[in-house]
Amino acid sequence: MAQLEWSDALNLDLPLMDDTHREFVDLLAAVDGADDAHLQSTWQALLDHTEQHFGQEDAWMQSTRFAAGNCHSMQHKVVLQVMREGLVRAQQGDLQVLRMMASELALWFPQHAQSMDAALALHLRRVGFDAATGVVRAPRALPEELIHGCGGATCGDAATHAQVADETRQPALV
Ligand SMILES: [Fe+2]
Ligand SMILES: [Fe+2]
Repeated sequence: MAQLEWSDALNLDLPLMDDTHREFVDLLAAVDGADDAHLQSTWQALLDHTEQHFGQEDAWMQSTRFAAGNCHSMQHKVVLQVMREGLVRAQQGDLQVLRMMASELALWFPQHAQSMDAALALHLRRVGFDAATGVVRAPRALPEELIHGCGGATCGDAATHAQVADETRQPALV
């Protein structure tokens, strides 16, 4: 059984984001179910998808007054970096690192989706952002100041960043 399965708790009521998140869950399940011969290719597929997934959210944030170095985008950056490091380690023969990282991602993803992504989805709905066209239908709802946090009350900025770096890096360093 996959370590992470889709559930209503992951639904953020933003169709494009939810579709992408469902795909992420499916691709992570493929990594989970892969034998050694297919582990790197399934990881590569997850990595490619995650680059698009995070890139899409980062672009939405850029379009709606988030600062470039906001903590949500920084978390994306750290996670992608760790995933890329995992691939390099696997190419050097350490397949176990990918299996450990997949377990960590299964724990990390619901937390990320239910905090940072949920806050972003709420923000995007508030400003009337059309994810398909990039149009902001309620520009007056945009904040005057650039957003540096994740846009939600749960944002712990540096603390969150450090924690994720810690959690996701751990398997790579064992
Ligand atoms: Fe996401
Ligand atoms: Fe995100």
